[in-house]
Amino acid sequence: MTDADAAPGGVGVVVVAAGSGSRLGAEVPKAFVQLRGRTLLSYAVERARGTRGLVAVVLVVPEDYADPSRLTDLGVPLGPDTVIVVGGAERTDSVRAGLAALAVDPRIEVVLVHDAARCLTPPTVFDRVVAAVAAGADGAVPGLAVIDTIKVVDSVGGVTGTLQRASLRAVQTPQGFRAEVLRTAYASGHQATDDAALVERAGGNVIVVDGDPLAFKVTTAEDLERALAALT
Ligand code: C5P
Repeated sequence: MTDADAAPGGVGVVVVAAGSGSRLGAEVPKAFVQLRGRTLLSYAVERARGTRGLVAVVLVVPEDYADPSRLTDLGVPLGPDTVIVVGGAERTDSVRAGLAALAVDPRIEVVLVHDAARCLTPPTVFDRVVAAVAAGADGAVPGLAVIDTIKVVDSVGGVTGTLQRASLRAVQTPQGFRAEVLRTAYASGHQATDDAALVERAGGNVIVVDGDPLAFKVTTAEDLERALAALT
């Protein structure tokens, strides 16, 4: 049996889509910007739904978008397994709200947290992450080798160090965890720029699996162009 065959318990996916996306300069929250007539969230949820073992989907959205009929009108694929919750001021707050909605489902052993802004992440990445957790890791994150050399600088730009490029990975989402490990990490109340950092801080073992260039995060207008090009 390979790692990819390891049977996980039920998988729950939290898709966070409650950010404003001010760097994109759009009139709507980033996850609701359209690409070829469909919202970024619609692409992200469609791909997340391909995950093997999926039993629940939580969509974390801005308050104005929490009405299921509005989401359906925007092309977001909902289902009987879908829960909609309102996000918070920081990404961490939004993930915490999503986790609370999943906590009531006893079938869920693996939780994936995914940025709606990484709207073109292929389903194979979701499956790789789940397989790594099913095979025994507390957490697994997709990552890519870093191409540029990374310098550490002080407040005035003076270089204080150079990191060993071979040991660096740029990580993406979905990030997956054993459900109780992620709940415990979030219960700490700390903030972090990714979910794995909270689990690492709580002493969990997190591994990096192969990411995918298509899992890039839409942040700027150039990223939207890149996403459009990837769809054509
Ligand atoms: O802002 P950034 O692009 O890093 O956000 C990553 C993801 O987290 C996006 O999909 C965004 O909608 C989501 N987010 C959220 N709640 C926030 C901030 C960001 O759901 N308060």
